[in-house]
Amino acid sequence: MISLEKITWDNWEACINLRVRDDQKPFIASNVYSLAQSYVALLNDRQPPMTYAICLGKTVIGFAMAYRETARESRFSEDSYVICRFMIDKDYQGRGYGKMALARLLDKIRAFPLGSADAVYVAYNRSNEAARALYAGFGFIETGIVSYGEMIARLPLAGRNFVKARFKRYANKANTREHQA
Ligand SMILES: CC(C)(COP(=O)(O)OP(=O)(O)OC[C@H]1O[C@@H](n2cnc3c(N)ncnc32)[C@H](O)[C@@H]1OP(=O)(O)O)[C@@H](O)C(=O)NCCC(=O)NCCS
Repeated sequence: MISLEKITWDNWEACINLRVRDDQKPFIASNVYSLAQSYVALLNDRQPPMTYAICLGKTVIGFAMAYRETARESRFSEDSYVICRFMIDKDYQGRGYGKMALARLLDKIRAFPLGSADAVYVAYNRSNEAARALYAGFGFIETGIVSYGEMIARLPLAGRNFVKARFKRYANKANTREHQA
């Protein structure tokens, strides 16, 4: 049984001891980096980050981190949640746990703990086939926008309208920048 638990004194060290495969290291920051980053966000940002230990029963097997942006803060000009870290330890990959954990994370996001939103965004390395397939399976659609080598994908949240014109304007600008770089 997969659950998402808050980071506590009991599980934080297990979280930082989780590892991805060597070939996956370019795809994600270490969990110690992410927890340090979440501490800075906690002290400075308007809203706290969402950080979770992904647990199989009582065993910590993964880590997830997300945050919310207002339309003003978002490069896409819409209230949104951003999944910035999501990993399953190398010894537990390929057994369906990533899928179960992502379903739990999306359930939490859909409860709008930090406020409502129009969409969920995620970015993954263009060569990260596992991430592409995982997110596509949940309905994320690639925007075509690449930022720092990572494809940005979007999942619309029911009941909120996406301002297509604004998004298109941003996409055109980003593509122009990408081609100029
Ligand atoms: C991406 C990741 C979280 C998937 O976790 P997982 O537990 O191995 O995934 P699951 O076993 O639940 O598989 C879920 C789906 O992912 C895809 N997938 C998983 N491994 C895959 C692989 N090696 N190649 C292609 N697709 C793969 C499949 O679509 C799979 O669904 P299916 O079995 O119905 O086809 C894991 O590989 C990981 O931690 N990678 C390193 C960190 C990372 O890249 N994070 C994403 C960017 S933030």
